[in-house]
Amino acid sequence: MNSATTAALLARARAVLASGQPEMGEAMATSPVTRYLDDARLQRERALMRRHPQAVVAASVLRDAGSWWSGDVLGAPLLVARDGDGVLHAFLNVCRHRGARVVAAGQGCGRERFACPYHAWTYAADGRLRALPRAEGFPDLDPDQSGLRRLAVAERAGLVWVIPDPAVADADVRAMLGAYAEELESFGLHDHVAYGQRDIELRCDWKLIVEGSSEAYHFKIAHRETIAPLFVDNLQIVDEDGLHRRMFIVKEALREQPAPAQPEPRAVGNILYYLFPSTMVLVQPDHAQVTRIEPTALGRTQVFDIALIPAAPGNDRARSHWDRNVQLYRDTLAEDYAQMEAIHAGLESGANRELRFGRYEFALARFHVQLDAQLATGT
Ligand code: FES
Ligand SMILES: [Fe+2]
Repeated sequence: MNSATTAALLARARAVLASGQPEMGEAMATSPVTRYLDDARLQRERALMRRHPQAVVAASVLRDAGSWWSGDVLGAPLLVARDGDGVLHAFLNVCRHRGARVVAAGQGCGRERFACPYHAWTYAADGRLRALPRAEGFPDLDPDQSGLRRLAVAERAGLVWVIPDPAVADADVRAMLGAYAEELESFGLHDHVAYGQRDIELRCDWKLIVEGSSEAYHFKIAHRETIAPLFVDNLQIVDEDGLHRRMFIVKEALREQPAPAQPEPRAVGNILYYLFPSTMVLVQPDHAQVTRIEPTALGRTQVFDIALIPAAPGNDRARSHWDRNVQLYRDTLAEDYAQMEAIHAGLESGANRELRFGRYEFALARFHVQLDAQLATGT
């Protein structure tokens, strides 16, 4: 984060502390309950997500030539591989012969070729078709047109981002991620390593998770058993860059550092980045937590978490430090997720025709305005 941004965030946070008056939107807003219960809309949201960058794996997994990762994201089977020249590639993990899955889900290194398990059509790490048994049976095959379907990919902020829709394989992933992904790199995330991965299913719509990550109004109440004592009540400093958002959530520790002290924002708060449409990166004092969300069905969302830490722990003391950090994050999120599942369970009850966003919750309203605009344009 550059010094101008740091100074501006601290000044705004201090102004709120001095006045006791949080920054607010112009007016209340509402969100119709039907928005969360419409299967046709959810399918359009999934299609939209497939056209935007997804943080599929930590970059530390794919650092070496010959490293690879395979998994499914938003229904698309993906293969990411680094070739012998160190260039990173992403593909649909689908054989160009008869469509079998080329590489089983997993990760590894030291592989330069991928042979399909069905008839052994074999692809290089750059996706080119290199060999097939009994090639005389395919006299009209053009090997140059038969490589794995390429996808847009980039490394940013310690993560590998892939756009799963092959129709936008030429998209500029870095440009789409915008200035906040670059800002994340200023925290050193680009050479951090993955730690403590997990994957859980929640019984709620994915948008409720984004909403819950867009305000600090709930902290003092929902998180009273975990992190609430550390944070100033209802103090969120929110900015946006295109479709992305940054929320500086301020800790009580800032009160002990009056101006002109210019502490690092991450030393006196957490900084939560929302990278549209499905990734949250929470920057904490010495590491970051990444959460990618993926709607799988109406009222069902898969949540993938990883911690990005500066270096792999070399001893038990370091391991227990990171385990404690990861556990606190999960305990805190469990409090959020319990609320989101309860909200989803109540959506169909008839109690509310719409949910209400107060003036402190202006980022939730912005998210829906922007999402609806994207759905309307189909981009
Ligand atoms: S489907 Fe892959 S080689 Fe036949
Ligand atoms: Fe929360």
